[in-house]
Amino acid sequence: MQYFAAGVPGSFHLRLFPDSSIHFVHSSLCLHRISKSPEVLQNKASPAWNKGRIHYTSAPDEVVEVYASQFAEDMENFLNARAKELVPKGMMVLILTATPKGMPYSELPTGMWYDSLSSVLMDMAKEEIIEESKVDSFNLPYYAASVEEMEEIVEKNGCFRIQRMESSNQSAWMKGPVDIPVWVRHMRAAMEGMTLWKWGYG
Ligand SMILES: C[S@@+](CC[C@H](N)C(=O)[O-])C[C@H]1O[C@@H](n2cnc3c(N)ncnc32)[C@H](O)[C@@H]1O
Repeated sequence: MQYFAAGVPGSFHLRLFPDSSIHFVHSSLCLHRISKSPEVLQNKASPAWNKGRIHYTSAPDEVVEVYASQFAEDMENFLNARAKELVPKGMMVLILTATPKGMPYSELPTGMWYDSLSSVLMDMAKEEIIEESKVDSFNLPYYAASVEEMEEIVEKNGCFRIQRMESSNQSAWMKGPVDIPVWVRHMRAAMEGMTLWKWGYG
């Protein structure tokens, strides 16, 4: 099979390629990244103020809803952009991190990690190593939708038809002993730059 590869600048939430120029789109483990941390999460007067946490894990419903609606808006932009770029009858295969419907995020491996990280940061704030306001203002721009949520977003958007969708079993991750040093290295590789940069310790 012959294909052309191109590196293009820009966000996948916006247009990247010319009209009707792509036959096949694949995105792997990227779309859980929302385009921004919604400002309302830092608004002290809002019920969605995400005080003492860095994600919607273990947060009130108002916080979860803010994340969910940012994800829905971003996916709508992604689908609209790709719909214009794909040729008629083009195809997309998307791999996203997901959450089983109704399962609290705190029961998933990454949720446990975000909870631990929030708690460590708040302890550091209590010991005045970092400022508490910096923890309050930091919200990880990650959202893991359920299969049902994705179905709803794609159907509402109307540009694509779902041919097949399935979720893998995340509970398999939790079986057997967890190699903590390996887990920590994995997480540092993904996150350390983001947190140190945000707090000005980089
Ligand atoms: C977890 S990595 C996945 C990388 C690779 N696709 C894979 O499967 O191993 C997520 C990637 O998404 C990119 N990314 C996040 N938001 C983006 C956006 N709005 N537009 C383009 N790329 C984005 C990040 O820079 C990062 O390289």
